[in-house]
Amino acid sequence: MKPRILVSRANFPEVLQSLRGDFEVEDNQADVVLAPEVLRPRLADKDGALITGFDRIDGALLDACPRLRAVCNIAVGHNNIDVAACTARGVVATNTPEVLNDTTADLGFALLMAAARRVTESERWLRAGHWRKWQVEQFLGQDIHDATLGVVGMGRIGQALARRGRGFDMTILYNNRSRVPPEVEAALGARRVDLHDLLRASDFVCLVLPYTRDTHHLIGERELALMKPTAVLVNIARGGIVDDAALVAALKARRIAGAGLDVFEGEPALHPGFRELDNVVLTPHIGSASRATRLAMGMTAVANLRAALAGERPPNLLNPDAWEKRRS
Ligand code: 8YV
Repeated sequence: MKPRILVSRANFPEVLQSLRGDFEVEDNQADVVLAPEVLRPRLADKDGALITGFDRIDGALLDACPRLRAVCNIAVGHNNIDVAACTARGVVATNTPEVLNDTTADLGFALLMAAARRVTESERWLRAGHWRKWQVEQFLGQDIHDATLGVVGMGRIGQALARRGRGFDMTILYNNRSRVPPEVEAALGARRVDLHDLLRASDFVCLVLPYTRDTHHLIGERELALMKPTAVLVNIARGGIVDDAALVAALKARRIAGAGLDVFEGEPALHPGFRELDNVVLTPHIGSASRATRLAMGMTAVANLRAALAGERPPNLLNPDAWEKRRS
């Protein structure tokens, strides 16, 4: 009998097709968002799952799904998975790193540029029919070239963002738990500084770090107050790293110049204050959203699931400790 798997949300036909040969697949091509009380019974008789970053996997769910051997995120971030709970139960957890680095960094830079040069704000104004004449002080923004880029979280996506900054002759500062190898620092021309120094010195502060208990509200009122009044904050990481209420207040009072945000606390809900503001560019969690990248993410998750259910170590194993005691 083929192993049974759930693909929790709609995905490309190629992804589903590649699974059907080896597995009995329950899909969700109608793309209904599965609340935890719906996800749990759907997984109760499954051996594996392809899930998105919006499906919560915790100990209670795993206890209700004794057959489940692998949960494979179609995302690099994995704060939706209680990895320790998976490890304790011998459930393999995986993610999809690397394939989305450049696409996500591209979006980060797009938000940075759009917020700095007031692209969406001026477009809204133009569309609304307000343009009567050219003016010397119309929509003055911040220069990007030669400015200082502060990257918070110098992992793979952070480095890809820094490379883009180099192309604009930016000075690169970064903050990361550990120092990146000297040759990476040298190639990026990047200098490690503490978070407060980064906030004080940067013209653009870009958040590219995982969301954990330690990074919850890493950027709040106090941190925003350290930023330059001309600075722009970009978040392509996770909602919850920024205290959205504090950011709305800072943007409203023009304590910083602007923000570009792809992720939000409690998304898809949006703090209502953002909607009222002109100096923020908002996108609905589209960091990895190119067809090629989303397909590559799906196929990476498939490779992880196929390996895990075949008893082979998956390429992107998040919990090596689960491997020895994995469920069979
Ligand atoms: C995903 C992401 O599209 O990879 C991540 O961590 O945030 C996005 O690329 C999203 O999490 C849905 O799985």
